[in-house]
Amino acid sequence: MNIVLMGYMGSGKSLIGNKLADKMKLEYLDLDDYIENQEKNTISKIFEEKGEIYFRKQESRYLKEVLEKQNNSVISLGGGTPCFAGNLEIIKESEKAKSIYLKTSLDQLTKRLFAERDKRPLISHLSTVDLLNDFIRKHLFERSFYYNQADHNIITDDREPDQISEEIITLLF
Ligand code: S3P
Repeated sequence: MNIVLMGYMGSGKSLIGNKLADKMKLEYLDLDDYIENQEKNTISKIFEEKGEIYFRKQESRYLKEVLEKQNNSVISLGGGTPCFAGNLEIIKESEKAKSIYLKTSLDQLTKRLFAERDKRPLISHLSTVDLLNDFIRKHLFERSFYYNQADHNIITDDREPDQISEEIITLLF
């Protein structure tokens, strides 16, 4: 089985994914890192040099590849992965994948992402907390339609990755 973590940027997919894989003695795979390795370029540079449409095409191709070849692993997706090009259907149709939506409040996301926005091409231009908050509110509204179709969801606010990982294990087994 593969456990697939989805959620908005800054929801803790990588941190929680790593913890969960550790606890369950599973392999950990981060789709963003996988794309960077395959493309031999950073996500920011891919957006800058080739644009978002190219990135989404590659993201979808690598998602399929990873879901087919991985077994017994925790896979963290990029924030937009389930929301493009039939990717959600690909995840839902993968018989060996169980999906989890890491659900984080708008306020927590804004706080976390303001400090880290330089690394993220979709929000790096937003220069004030208010602009970022407004952007995330609208974006999260659109994306929630897809995230909410995960097999399970877990609220991450005010909880440590350790506790959240334990909860995922209880939910799944
Ligand atoms: C994106 C999220 C990023 C990365 C890319 C696009 C998005 O991943 O895939 O910058 O569309 O939300 P993280 O959620 O790991 O930051």
